[in-house]
Amino acid sequence: MSGLAPSILSANFLDLPGQVSMVEANKADYLHIDVMDGRFVPNITFGPWLVKTLRPLTRLVLDVHLMIVEPEKYISAFASAGADIITVHAEATHHLDRLIDQIRESGCKAGVSLNPATTLDAVQYVLPKIDLLLLMSVNPGFGGQKYLGYVTEKIKAARRMIDESGLACLIEVDGGIHEGNISQVRRAGADILVAGNAVFGQPDPGATCLKLKNLLDEADGKNQDLHLPE
Ligand code: DX5
Ligand code: ZN
Repeated sequence: MSGLAPSILSANFLDLPGQVSMVEANKADYLHIDVMDGRFVPNITFGPWLVKTLRPLTRLVLDVHLMIVEPEKYISAFASAGADIITVHAEATHHLDRLIDQIRESGCKAGVSLNPATTLDAVQYVLPKIDLLLLMSVNPGFGGQKYLGYVTEKIKAARRMIDESGLACLIEVDGGIHEGNISQVRRAGADILVAGNAVFGQPDPGATCLKLKNLLDEADGKNQDLHLPE
């Protein structure tokens, strides 16, 4: 079964509670929180305080994507703030195995992310110990960028790698997902689809969220009766 993870990065922060409840009421499964430090990526966003602010506002799974250097320094702060999943970049640490253990010990699910150009070899040996593999389909740093087409092959290869080993690790795809490509990316093997601009950048984020979720359900083979001829 697939899941939709709207990214709060593109939300209207003047009405944070309203924006969160809008997607929660429209079948979102996760709330994706993009943490950027101006070093790993050329942009700065928010820290553990936002996770702490969001926690009492929602029952959605808080999916924290750390695009920061030295992530080991901040795992406990994000865990105590209320993160459910903490995802770190393989490119941002010298000791990925140890960092995964640290995330698990903090009580959170552990995710590892790869930039578009990083090969799957970087995670091959740790796949059995992670909950989530986050494949970036844009260069991380900004919302609203174009999906990099070559990542589709990488998603398919990751899907094969995980299925052939009988692992439970989920594949999340992040960047440039919209109504026109979400079904295709789901069919390539993504379990969780992140959508920032395609949800919160739209005039009616709730309606768009529902639309994306329905497209995912269709790709999963649900709602097929909706398309039967009268
Ligand atoms: C990019 C972030 C993404 C971003 C996705 O660095 O990791 O999560 O918010 O935004 P869209 O869906 O607008 O490409
Ligand atoms: Zn992200």
